Amino acid sequence: MELQFKLKASFKTSADASGAKDLIGAYFDEANQGILTRGAPEGQGARIVEWGLEGDRINLTIESGKHVRAHDALLRLRKPLATKLGKDFHIGIRGIDVGSFVIRIPSEKPLGEIKIPYVNSMDYGDGVITLTLEVEEAELDNRVPDRILTLMEDKIAAQTYGGKAEHWSLLWESEKKVHRFSEDPTIEMQKRGWLKRGASRGQWIHGPQSTRLFRVFEKIVIEELLDPLGYREMIFPKLVPWDVWKKSGHAKGVYPEIYYICPPKTRDPKYWEDVIDYYKVTHEVPTAMIKEKIGDPIGGMCYAQCPPFWVYLQGETIPTNEFPLKVFDHSGTSHRYESGGIHGMERVDEFHRIEIVWAGTPNQVLSHSKELQEKYKRIFNNILELEWRKAWVTPWFMAQEGMTGLSEGKDIGTIDYEAPLPYRGEEGDWLEFQNVSVNGNKYPSGFNVKCQSGEELWSGCSGVGLERWASVFLAQKGLDPENWPNEVRERVGELPKGIRFL
Ligand code: SER
Ligand code: ZN
Repeated sequence: MELQFKLKASFKTSADASGAKDLIGAYFDEANQGILTRGAPEGQGARIVEWGLEGDRINLTIESGKHVRAHDALLRLRKPLATKLGKDFHIGIRGIDVGSFVIRIPSEKPLGEIKIPYVNSMDYGDGVITLTLEVEEAELDNRVPDRILTLMEDKIAAQTYGGKAEHWSLLWESEKKVHRFSEDPTIEMQKRGWLKRGASRGQWIHGPQSTRLFRVFEKIVIEELLDPLGYREMIFPKLVPWDVWKKSGHAKGVYPEIYYICPPKTRDPKYWEDVIDYYKVTHEVPTAMIKEKIGDPIGGMCYAQCPPFWVYLQGETIPTNEFPLKVFDHSGTSHRYESGGIHGMERVDEFHRIEIVWAGTPNQVLSHSKELQEKYKRIFNNILELEWRKAWVTPWFMAQEGMTGLSEGKDIGTIDYEAPLPYRGEEGDWLEFQNVSVNGNKYPSGFNVKCQSGEELWSGCSGVGLERWASVFLAQKGLDPENWPNEVRERVGELPKGIRFL
């Protein structure tokens, strides 16, 4: 079976159209041969299978397959019909009423209980999902049926290929190294008083020693990569409203992983007095009462770091010679609601990252990605002296939208940098410690950014996760600076003393 649509609808007319019956009939016959077949293979257009007049309505039933969808067919009919009725009969078309709209979609399995807007019922039988839509003219105009169909097709595909692992293919790997350290660095760091767990889930408080190491990593990136490549530092916002995530695509899938932000309904102390008094008397924070007094979530805490930067460029036309545009941010934390269980510093709900963003013509963006990769290679080989590899993976923006697979263009996508953690053993999973991505026109187009020359704009970004760098570096080199590569040891100097406890 193929995709099928059956739509019963009426054109509402400004007067009884019985006098125009012949004209309407002739027009519908002509449409069945003409405009309703346009763009479809022979014999596979949409068809008006039934019609009739009833007071000030023209009722019709349209059936179609996938080529000219029934709702598109209805919209195609409207204008030419209105012109004909207006000219000869002075009758206008006032609007559309949708009686019933049924879509039949082939699927090997039912989808289970799901609730989709404008879908009244979803039934399964004989390899077909039958959807009954409850839509009006506005939804037809806004292409809601098409979006429902895309959503259904995605869900059916996910069900079929869902179990498949994310895409991964090796691009480059360093030679194997002998690692003299085989402990879990987070545990070792805790023992030595370098860091402690924070009060919140997946959060750490870095003592002076590990903070020094983080700052050295940042210094390496700034001195060896950002400065030589002409980057300018900026400060990106860290509270991200929905509007940004609608444009970046995150609104399609990020919900299970974000920390939500809700503002108070008012900052009037009187409004909050009962909460304050409750706390003073009970020493319990009354979260149920608070829930009533805060507004809907306005967005979430920084997740991918680059999306809120694009608001700076949004709607602008930028002089051609500004490109390639290169900026970075390391002004604050990123937050992800990670999977449960106890993790070390390598998997955290709150982390620190240098986010590197560049934009320009497709060629500029691609060649800059290569320059960055060369710099990283030098840093990992000659400064940190790591064992590492890089792999071509599902682009981060697709993964964050809840998709798997690869992007269509073979230039567009993400390279993950991964390293073995000796304490996990020979067979242990390698840790992804940063990425370099070419994101195509996704961001310039989502945020409507233009180049003066009219050339297409692309962008890329690269996230340097400091906790991840530390996890890899310390796992391979251990915590004793005398075992660290010279380049690192010299930049660290004497490790600051930690805070002592009795
Ligand atoms: N924005 C990219 C990501 O979230 C790079 O940091 O992975
Ligand atoms: Zn990014």
